[in-house]
Amino acid sequence: MHILVITHALSGPWTGNRTTAARWVSLLTELGHQVDLAESYDGQATDLMVALHARRSHPSILRYRQERPKAALVVALTGTDVYRDIDSDEDARASVDAATRLVVLQPMAIDRLPAHVRHRARTIYQSIGECLPQLQKSPTAREDEFFDVCVLAHLREVKDPFRPAEAVRLLPPSSRIRILHAGAALSEAMGQRAERESRENPRYRWLGELPPDEARALIANSRALILCSVLEGGANVVTEAIAARTPVICSRVAGSMGLLGAHYGGFFEVGDTEEAARLLGRLENDADYFATLTEHVAGLQPMVSREREREAWRRLLDEAMADQAVQEATVSGAVRGESRFQLQEGSAEMARDTFAQEVREGLAASPKRLACRYFYDAAGSQLFEEICALPEYYVTRAEREILAERAEDIIAPFDTAIDLVELGSGSASKTRMLVEALLRRHGCLRYVPIDISRAALERSANELLRDYAGLTVSGIVAEYGAGLRWLQRSHEASRLILWLGSNIGNLHRKDATQFVRQISETMRPVDRLLLGIDRRKPRAILEAAYDDRQGVTARFNFNVLTRVNRELGGRFDLERFAHRAVFNEAQGRVEMHLVSEQSQDVAIDALETSVGFRAGETVHTENSYKYSWPEIEQLASEAGCRILAHYQDLRSQFSSVLLARLE
Ligand code: AVI
Repeated sequence: MHILVITHALSGPWTGNRTTAARWVSLLTELGHQVDLAESYDGQATDLMVALHARRSHPSILRYRQERPKAALVVALTGTDVYRDIDSDEDARASVDAATRLVVLQPMAIDRLPAHVRHRARTIYQSIGECLPQLQKSPTAREDEFFDVCVLAHLREVKDPFRPAEAVRLLPPSSRIRILHAGAALSEAMGQRAERESRENPRYRWLGELPPDEARALIANSRALILCSVLEGGANVVTEAIAARTPVICSRVAGSMGLLGAHYGGFFEVGDTEEAARLLGRLENDADYFATLTEHVAGLQPMVSREREREAWRRLLDEAMADQAVQEATVSGAVRGESRFQLQEGSAEMARDTFAQEVREGLAASPKRLACRYFYDAAGSQLFEEICALPEYYVTRAEREILAERAEDIIAPFDTAIDLVELGSGSASKTRMLVEALLRRHGCLRYVPIDISRAALERSANELLRDYAGLTVSGIVAEYGAGLRWLQRSHEASRLILWLGSNIGNLHRKDATQFVRQISETMRPVDRLLLGIDRRKPRAILEAAYDDRQGVTARFNFNVLTRVNRELGGRFDLERFAHRAVFNEAQGRVEMHLVSEQSQDVAIDALETSVGFRAGETVHTENSYKYSWPEIEQLASEAGCRILAHYQDLRSQFSSVLLARLE
């Protein structure tokens, strides 16, 4: 087909956008398409347009949509558009709404998008061409005069371009670190400052703008790269550094965290010159630190392979064209003549009496405990949505990546329209990827979300019904048990049952196995169960995921005390408790606790009781079990299931396991 790639960045200094556009043109050509690159859309005939930068390409996007309302349109959010404009700029938002598919360059960018378009977004990691020969990188291997650290950033505010020069001024006289800075001066004043800095700071040299090949050679031949961006990452330069195995010291911005992982050891806070200097000094002098960062970066090399990027584009174009076909057939596929939404109340929402009883028992027990299902009132559910977008909480992103890439494979066995049943459906945002794949395949679908929150269920059902004409929704407001009873009764069509999001992890291993067994007993040979399971991984990653820097998980944990205060007249002073998340390695679970910071008595009026706490005593509020592969196999076999397929995200953090009942 014919593809038109639009970017504003065809002239002026060489930018990441121009590199990206040029590479996409060649990848799409390799995929057999006829591709043109242009600065704007001027009414050219084309089958599909790829527009880089939501705000800057907006005039082209608008015209394309006006002239071709149903044609496939891919909008790539490449930098300032996703990290700034999406919040403030009408044009950028309109471009995003107009797109059939959205492309971002790292997975955390998806969390910046409005919730109603996230399922249309795909991460396409950048790749580079062939690898350059590399310097033997080690702080001590060469007795060079300098320990070169490069900066690849045009001189503009958003790149915070002089931070590295300021940081190296703080280093002791013994340091051999020299900053080599490549980038064009985008204002005269910036250029003058770079020249002055070069003259006055013996550890800093401004090289001006370098052609792409020389820029790449600079990254490959430097001991490290430093990146100080204030908001956007530098997806291109980080990718180059990964390809060259050059360790990166960089500001903690989503653009860089999304590529390097939130637990990477080379981050400093935006604008923190002292910390940047400390990390540079450590890199120069601490061989273990240098090796750890280098190994981490080297381990990401598969992510930036050209084949992977080409394959991601192939899939994306297939989807975009298939979506277009669905859109065109929308009216004929619409379900008519019956209500498209039914709601059953399984068991009523958590009764106050049960809550009171469990609080009484849990706080009288030793050790004290409160059940994690009490996190999820309206405020708690909102906090959980925020957790899902945290840099440290990889769980949701990893599963989203799997579903985005594998939805077609997962639904492949189903030849005719099915029931898609989801336990604990919540906002159902990831589910949309399966819904869309099934609608593309069969034209119609019944979705059966089962969730304890009536509000969440109604909201998500309304949004889905608004967006998909071929869909009917039969929601059930209930806990898992009632969901199971529905599964036992209803066998009108083949079923794909979803239990996603590592929800299984909140059950003890035995209970999890038993519940999966109960599900499998309701399944016929054609039915499938898709289980989302979080994997065991190093303690530091797990504990950070449940004790994030912004304190959102802490607030989520405290929410159970807030509920006791509000609903049962509790007198908890939240200031006197602390959030704790620890990985209990023997049990393979992250535990969340609330720790009493002093000895205290807390009255709970509705229970006519007072609960005593010793200083340091904890209330255990949640377990989140993590599974090794043998543990997943054991779970499946003890639950009477056969593993048909196993999908993982790129970093092997999360598993989606497709199960059938053992015959
Ligand atoms: C819902 N559940 C799978 C989450 C988890 O990871 O165990 C709940 C959560 N607790 C803290 N952060 C997220």
